[in-house]
Amino acid sequence: MVSVEQIDRADKVASAGQALLRWYDTHARVLPWRYSSGDTPDPYRVWLSEIMLQQTTVKAVVPYYEKFLDRWPTVHHLASADPDELMRAWAGLGYYARARNLLACARIVSEKWGGVFPDNETDLKALPGIGVYTSAAIRAIAYNLPAVVVDGNVERVMARMHTGLASGLKSKSILSDFAKHYYSFAAEVGRSGDMAQAFMDLGATVCVPKSPRCGICPLFLHCPSKGKPELLKPSNGGARGVRHKRFGAVYWVIGGDNSVLLEKRQERGLLGGMTGFPVSEWTDKPAQPPSPPEFLAGIPFYRVSRGQVRHRFTHFDLALDIFMARSPFISESLPQNFFWHPTVSLKEAGLPSLFVKVFNLAMPLHLSTG
Ligand code: ADE
Repeated sequence: MVSVEQIDRADKVASAGQALLRWYDTHARVLPWRYSSGDTPDPYRVWLSEIMLQQTTVKAVVPYYEKFLDRWPTVHHLASADPDELMRAWAGLGYYARARNLLACARIVSEKWGGVFPDNETDLKALPGIGVYTSAAIRAIAYNLPAVVVDGNVERVMARMHTGLASGLKSKSILSDFAKHYYSFAAEVGRSGDMAQAFMDLGATVCVPKSPRCGICPLFLHCPSKGKPELLKPSNGGARGVRHKRFGAVYWVIGGDNSVLLEKRQERGLLGGMTGFPVSEWTDKPAQPPSPPEFLAGIPFYRVSRGQVRHRFTHFDLALDIFMARSPFISESLPQNFFWHPTVSLKEAGLPSLFVKVFNLAMPLHLSTG
């Protein structure tokens, strides 16, 4: 039997869902991967944008998305990309496993699927880099199929809309269950993709974690949390845990012909497959002195004063001291993966952000060493 509560909720979802979609019709953000209603989305573009948007802001993604689309306009182009060029193009966007998976996925879609992204969850999730969230986003946005697209934004909106206990209620599965009702409503009116993107826009521009803009919210009339700022805090109450710190050294080795030593890092692990300067091990306490890779051990490095680079990774903060040396000796016997790169074109070497910071600090000194 259908309970009174269920009917109440269905009513609330239908009217709030409708209000949200109407708001989206006039307030949707203009984003380069977005399609106007009536246009048929290109699943390649949807997939590319969704991969780039994993753990990365819209603002950071836009220029990369445009650059990738210019360079590799279809999944077949991307499938035959030179891996090094692709990694260089991705440099600065972070989470580099995504770039490796991007290529692997493009190759499979190009070869196994004839360039057509599958539209069912099982086949999508079997592709590298595509998990529950991204497969749902592709199904909803690219194919307008019923899918439950739930990220942190949707969870926050659901917590505020349906519990009024944003700071207390943490069960993601309950929030996801609420969201399912909205997506069922969207599927009934044939707007699954719009519902997903409406939630994204609402969460990013109105129902934001701190100081939500309730006064302009399309769900104002439906939301029990409005006007109760104490209930609108982020779920951890805004408190940040103590972040894990790691320490190490980075080596700026000046070779002949105004070149600097670089390393193509191993495929696996942090910054895997990316190009950077040689580094020591990273440890939990500052090591005095840190040890460079073995083949650099005999070189008389000096520590650059005020030459510390700090970088935030997802799970820890890193502090690297910069050490500099001139070393014409090691030119012949470089281990595999290490190579000299002309200093003048280091900016085009595709360095990830950590090493761009090293570059910015060390380069003026390099120039002043003559
Ligand atoms: N975050 C994740 N996917 C997104 C999209 N398609 N548009 C805006 N923000 C997003």
